Amino acid sequence: MPDATDPAAIIDQALAEFGADCAIAFSGAEDVVVLEYARQSGRPFRVFTLDTGRLHAETYAYLDRVERHFGIRIEVMFPDAAAVEALVRAKGLFSFRSDGHQECCGIRKVAPLRRQLSTLRAWITGQRKDQGATRGGLPLRQVDPVFKGRDGGDLHKFNPLAEQTSDAVWTVIRALDLPYNPLHERGFVSIGCEPCTRPTLPNQHEREGRWWWEDPGHKECGLHSGNRGR
Ligand code: ADX
Ligand code: SF4
Repeated sequence: MPDATDPAAIIDQALAEFGADCAIAFSGAEDVVVLEYARQSGRPFRVFTLDTGRLHAETYAYLDRVERHFGIRIEVMFPDAAAVEALVRAKGLFSFRSDGHQECCGIRKVAPLRRQLSTLRAWITGQRKDQGATRGGLPLRQVDPVFKGRDGGDLHKFNPLAEQTSDAVWTVIRALDLPYNPLHERGFVSIGCEPCTRPTLPNQHEREGRWWWEDPGHKECGLHSGNRGR
């Protein structure tokens, strides 16, 4: 019997069903395995990333390396310049430390994501259940509970790694010699923006390296806010 949780089969299905109306959201971390499964499908695939303007230098270099490895151009989404300027002029460059990360993430990540998703009918993420408290009920496939797709229609969301562990993902990266973000060699596990990501200690959960000054129930930045309350 086919394994319904097989990530390669789920990605192949998503690409077969939605073609160029589907795109992979790539964060510049271990979700590179999603790109590898897309490549293995032999189908054309689109990839986008949200450049918040606050990523690590290593992540920018890695994005370039990934483009060359797969022979693709990643669609880089930028935030609205006027909105970033207004926030920074009003509250400074590190408002998220005192105000919480939602406002800055809203401008730098969520608005550009919404803009991209409004052109699509499906997207593919690298989320996993084992990434923490808010992701325990993550389905392999869902109708996006938050965002709409093209012309305001339903947007399908695929989470093909939902049932995979961090260990399993890293086994694939090593076995296939896939490029990885060099920050992983310096203790970073989950990687986001530079000011909001830090390395974790042995046995610390990976999400403890993200927005560490906030409470674990608030560690969704809005990209996957439908996960809250699961
Ligand atoms: S986050 O919401 O906390 O930042 P996380 O880093 O766990 O998300 O990544 C989960 C998935 O969200 C990634 O595999 C990817 O699909 C998507 N994602 C996160 N950050 C980005 C980004 N900057 N650009 C594109 N997709 C992203
Ligand atoms: Fe801003 Fe931090 Fe969110 Fe990046 S992760 S968009 S720097 S609050």
